[in-house]
Amino acid sequence: MTIYNLGSINADYVYDVPHLPAGGETIAATAHRVGLGGKGANQSVAARLAGAEVRHIGAVGADGRWAVERLRGFGVDVAHVAEVGGPTAHAIINVDPQGENMIVLLAGANALQDEARIGAALADAGPGDTLLLQNETTCQLSAAQRAGACGMRVIYSAAPFQAEAVKQMLPLTTILVLNEVEAAQLSDTLGGRMLPDMIVTRGARGASWAVRGGETVEIPAFAVEAVDTTGAGDCFIGSVAACLDLGMGREEALRYGAAAAALQVSRPGTADAMPPRDEVLAFLGRA
Ligand code: RIB
Ligand code: NA
Repeated sequence: MTIYNLGSINADYVYDVPHLPAGGETIAATAHRVGLGGKGANQSVAARLAGAEVRHIGAVGADGRWAVERLRGFGVDVAHVAEVGGPTAHAIINVDPQGENMIVLLAGANALQDEARIGAALADAGPGDTLLLQNETTCQLSAAQRAGACGMRVIYSAAPFQAEAVKQMLPLTTILVLNEVEAAQLSDTLGGRMLPDMIVTRGARGASWAVRGGETVEIPAFAVEAVDTTGAGDCFIGSVAACLDLGMGREEALRYGAAAAALQVSRPGTADAMPPRDEVLAFLGRA
């Protein structure tokens, strides 16, 4: 089947810094790189490398053609990525020696999604297909409504966290993915709402999948030395989505996602650090 991803496409400007800067502080970066990023693009690359067919729906400015070519280079279908007026989204990312980061994001073209384009992209979608969504674009709600109407599975990552957006998305979501900080923020704002299936990522402490009204599957994380954690959550989500699309069970999908994320944090970069399937399987074989 196909994973459709209405997702952000960002230029990531990454700076290695001795520590994350405090207010009013100016510090010198020790290295700098520019790469493809954005939670959506990262997830598309991860899902594609895990073996799924992926169609990305999104928008860039004229300055973002290289980013679309990068996506295409990974084998992602970019026929429904539009070039619009305005700048491509970009993220300023500081990474400290422990691999922790601090991100400033300009939405740019990510905020210029278009209902007609989304409708055209989803025209041939149906039951068994997946729609992936995050909070870095506009139009998630209407896209999720379309997906629900044609019987798709909707996997929604609540990052970056916006309580109101998440509340609206809950009834349209098949699987909600949160990190533990977001999960705590969500439970503060829920007020007894029905929850869909929920996957919570806990960094070095693994991940869990609470099935709606049922069991909870938990898996440990793989211990690796973190070089750059940027995009690790996206790697996990895209990988899990691909595994489910390919028919794997919950625990197997979570384990694959955790292994992929472990490899992704062990090297610099966001989309460029996503591991291909063979590498993940070899890592799982050694673990
Ligand atoms: O999740 C990581 C991503 O968040 C980065 O690639 C950056 O673009 C920001 O959107
Ligand atoms: Na990385």
